[in-house]
Amino acid sequence: MVTIGKTLASLMLASVVFHAAPTTLIIAHRGASGHRPEHTIEAYTLAIDMGADVIEPDLVSTKDGALIARHENEIGATTDVADKFASRKATKTIDGMSVTGWFTEDFTLAEIKTLRAKERLAFRAHTYDGQFLIPTFDEVLDLAARKSRETGRTIGVYPETKHPTYFRSLKLPIEEPMLAALKQRGLTKKTSPVFIQSFEASSLQRMRPLTDAPLVMLVSSAALVTPAKLAELRAFADGIGAEKRLVIPVNGEGMALPPTTLVADAHAAHLFVHVWTLRKEAQFLPASYGGDMAKEAKQFADLGVDGMFTDFPDIAARALGRVAKR
Ligand code: G3P
Ligand code: CA
Repeated sequence: MVTIGKTLASLMLASVVFHAAPTTLIIAHRGASGHRPEHTIEAYTLAIDMGADVIEPDLVSTKDGALIARHENEIGATTDVADKFASRKATKTIDGMSVTGWFTEDFTLAEIKTLRAKERLAFRAHTYDGQFLIPTFDEVLDLAARKSRETGRTIGVYPETKHPTYFRSLKLPIEEPMLAALKQRGLTKKTSPVFIQSFEASSLQRMRPLTDAPLVMLVSSAALVTPAKLAELRAFADGIGAEKRLVIPVNGEGMALPPTTLVADAHAAHLFVHVWTLRKEAQFLPASYGGDMAKEAKQFADLGVDGMFTDFPDIAARALGRVAKR
């Protein structure tokens, strides 16, 4: 068994180009979100203790411009906001979609701090519903720094700008305060243990002149990852965050098919490849792995991906032969 006492920072320094990194990063998708309500300090802490190298906060803004960790600005599905602020329910058009619920931009940070998180998915345990606070980005960064000191590992942070164009239209931009928080902690370099991701190319293009930290273009369509498109992405991104089926397609029966050339194509374009999202449940895991997410994780690692987002960092750590140093 290999111990992951070797720090992420040293791995990064040893290999400025991440695709040549001598390990596969385990990226805790919204924390250890298979075990705790997503995007909570408790979910991130457990992920680190399970061996995650990197924790992932998706970021949205409050009414008073604070960045908080939530997957979307509608928070009815992941908090008890409906019980506490019933009258704030609203319908809005966000990125062309009509959405009804409760929106972070209608709440101050003080109000958000009165809420408690709940599990999003009905088929996961709801044991912890109503217990955990909604963290700010600063609190997530502080956690990574504290756990790095305590464990001797360097814990990376992987913020995602969520609905950045929409939030900018409200005069609540995500990018500038996010970069300011990173700068305050010296996380501005190509080798810094941070990755900044977005589904919106314009968000990354806006940030490219403002930071040397690695930028990651999220992609879920094969049309966006042709060799020609990858070459275009390289102008403003250092890597891609690819929906996992772009690397290992799945047929109509849920069986994994032979891998595509995406990992090799991206590496040829000097882009690293992180895949999302590995989860153990049958709803997400192709049937060909026989219910064992470890087999899927091992296959992606063997294919040379540079990192994997997972709700279950414990299974990924085991699959990759890693023992967490707490
Ligand atoms: O950011 C990588 C992956 O998390 C993208 O999907 O929807 O979970 O943010 P989503
Ligand atoms: Ca994300």
